[in-house]
Amino acid sequence: MLGGERIEGSIRVDAAKNAVLPILAAAILPEGDVIIRDCPDIRDVHAMAEILGKLGCETIWQNGEMLIRNGRLHQWEMPDELSKQIRSSIFLLGPILGKLRRATVTYPGGCEIGIRPIDLHLKGLRALGVRIVDAGGVLYCDGRDMHAGDVYFDYPSVGATENVMMAAVLLPGITTIHNAAKEPEIEDLQRFINRMGGKIRGAGTQIIEIEGVEKLHGISYAPIPDRIVAGTLLCAGAMNGGKMELSNVHPWDLVPVIDKLQEMGCRIRESGNRLTLEAPERLHAISQLQTQPHPGFPTDMQAQMLAACCVARGTSVIIENVFENRLSHVADLCRMGANIRVNGRMAVVQGVDAMHGMRVMARDLRGGAALVLAGLCAQGETIVENIALIDRGYAHLEDTLSALGAKIDRIDV
Ligand code: EPZ
Repeated sequence: MLGGERIEGSIRVDAAKNAVLPILAAAILPEGDVIIRDCPDIRDVHAMAEILGKLGCETIWQNGEMLIRNGRLHQWEMPDELSKQIRSSIFLLGPILGKLRRATVTYPGGCEIGIRPIDLHLKGLRALGVRIVDAGGVLYCDGRDMHAGDVYFDYPSVGATENVMMAAVLLPGITTIHNAAKEPEIEDLQRFINRMGGKIRGAGTQIIEIEGVEKLHGISYAPIPDRIVAGTLLCAGAMNGGKMELSNVHPWDLVPVIDKLQEMGCRIRESGNRLTLEAPERLHAISQLQTQPHPGFPTDMQAQMLAACCVARGTSVIIENVFENRLSHVADLCRMGANIRVNGRMAVVQGVDAMHGMRVMARDLRGGAALVLAGLCAQGETIVENIALIDRGYAHLEDTLSALGAKIDRIDV
């Protein structure tokens, strides 16, 4: 890409990756087909659909909709190569147990941003009576004696909360999750399951109650918009002096991001499902940004905001509290001329007047997106390698940014 173009215009945001993935997992629960509307064309969604296919479901992707036919679901063993393919495969553990009462999975393994343990997932399922034997990294799960129960999470894990919700929805009785994650995607999963006939309440608060039902029926559903894609595009506009309008967004899911962009000098107006951003001539630094579980500042927006701080006036302090290795984009940003010091999970960013283009490499999904944002405002040409990582969570990012005025192409290097 060639930096320096104003990034502005209007763009519509797709459904959220982190809502669609658990909803795809929950789509094995009902007796009947599920259609996910507005489904983003991203690698993680297609990888999850492939796993559903291996379990016996039929998935058909067409015109931005994913059809899931689960009538022939029979496989409770998740082969290792699939578990490794996408971490979110672990979201299938709960629904497979909820539906078939047995499951064999392997540890999904870590990724670029951290070890990604699943101890809380297993603690939650054991509290529901699942017997789990770990034999050399393969988890043999016996759910024949599963029952409703009380689950307490030492940390409000998003995935563990979703797994227990899905495992409990067909269990007679009331299951209560204490210290549940409160992300908007959890509320969306509750909405989706309740539309299928489930009885869940409390999502979005730290206590979620799941009242077991006999069965669920299929539905057609449009998940919530992707607040992280929306935040990423707002950063693109903020860094390149533009005026940007986003449609199909939930401003109330973006409060911490909007707050920080306003602190940096952006004028942001909300009206219903629309957001407009007007960037200042030059961004101001952020006194401090700390990532936290929702409703704190989302860790998935840390890299993008850090990129924006690189060209802001003043010194910003950014602390990553959620994942242990989520600052790998700093090295490449420094190669582009950014002035950043890292101490543990803290990055101190001294804004520079300009960065310069460079050949850099995406090392994780959101860090890769941050490098694209930096390239859009750097002087000269930037090449971002390993963009398959970015394709995991952004559908045709180069097309979206081109439509907003960027000089950017996908090339084979
Ligand atoms: C979800 O991951 C998201 N992924 C992540 O988005 C997001 O960053 C994360 O939630 C936090 O918001 C999807 O929804 C598909 P966690 P998840 O369990 O569920 C520790 C992106 O860029 N932990 O809330 O894996 C864990 O190590 C991705 O779109 C345990 O210790 O997140 C981490 O430090 C990246 N034991 C913290 O909790 C467990 O059993 C948060 O993890 C589970 C998690």
